[in-house]
Amino acid sequence: MINPHARIIEEIEEQRPNTPVALLSLEERQRHMDRATLGLYRWYLNVSQNKRNWSPETSFDWNNIRTDHSEAMKTVIEGFFAVEQYVPDYTSKTVAAARRDHGRGHFQIRWGSEEEKHSDLWYNALLFTRARSPEWVRDYQYMLRGTEWQLVWDDPLHITAYVVFQERATQVNYLNTVLAARGKLESPEFANDVDPVLAQVAQTIAVDEAAHYNFFLEVLRLYLYYFPQKTLEAINDVVKSFAMPANEYIPNFERFYETIYRTGIYSAREAARDVIQVALDNIGIVGKRALEAGIKKSRLVPNPFGEMRETSFFFEGFDYHAVENAVRKLFNRVQEYEAKIGFDKIDPVKFIPTGLVQSRSPAE
Ligand SMILES: [Fe+2]
Ligand SMILES: [Fe+2]
Repeated sequence: MINPHARIIEEIEEQRPNTPVALLSLEERQRHMDRATLGLYRWYLNVSQNKRNWSPETSFDWNNIRTDHSEAMKTVIEGFFAVEQYVPDYTSKTVAAARRDHGRGHFQIRWGSEEEKHSDLWYNALLFTRARSPEWVRDYQYMLRGTEWQLVWDDPLHITAYVVFQERATQVNYLNTVLAARGKLESPEFANDVDPVLAQVAQTIAVDEAAHYNFFLEVLRLYLYYFPQKTLEAINDVVKSFAMPANEYIPNFERFYETIYRTGIYSAREAARDVIQVALDNIGIVGKRALEAGIKKSRLVPNPFGEMRETSFFFEGFDYHAVENAVRKLFNRVQEYEAKIGFDKIDPVKFIPTGLVQSRSPAE
């Protein structure tokens, strides 16, 4: 048996870091997060191909869409078309920002392929409803694409926080358009806009947007779990300045925005209640004000030796334990899916707690 000199043991003890044994290093946290994202992407790709593989041409009865929609509805369709014209920029820039990461990078390509179908679908809707002439649409499209859309945030964390709210906002817009096309949105302007084909168009996209929202929400939760402090700050940055994409690029955005606002498709009420609050609820944050107040008060909590290590953090209005449970569930879902293929025998995915502790008070 090896019997080291007492001085050596003492020395090792002195050099032992003052952090809990189970605390994952930053590199380990990043590795676990990337591995979970890869599994989530694999799961997503399978669902996307098997359940949402629709075509903007052949999945819709274009010859039976109405051709006498109200001016308000025509403006709404034109606006959705315009926002989706920047899809080459949305895709190329988010792919470039995520290119180092297998799961996230490939997801952004897949996401772009789905957004590309939304773009084509609104193009077809604009033509077949006869809302605008083919020549007008071509000219308008040419003009829109003359300006290159730029990322609002350029790091993957802020992009993730932003797209969670943005995907939720598009989903709300499209779901309310479904209601309008079914005669169920209380706006007199849509009184004669009932149209099952248009309802199917908006419904199909809304289902995709819900899938996008859920993917990004899971990724944001992973960030929150592995890097709570900086993620809460990023969410706060995004919430403070949230606006729909491309609003400053579309020349007649004002008319479009005014129409969706007036008719109840997307107003301040929807933005606050159905977008910001719903997303914060899903993330596990009490509300916008609590988030802002929490950022001000929060800081890294010193360990018993007075060193500022990221072993614990203080934050009010946010439940780290609930986030851990949600992340555990995600790992289970990934494990289950990957076991069906056989990845579990070669490269198993395993949940390991971060070891981070949420303090009850700033002084603790
Ligand atoms: Fe979309
Ligand atoms: Fe989307």
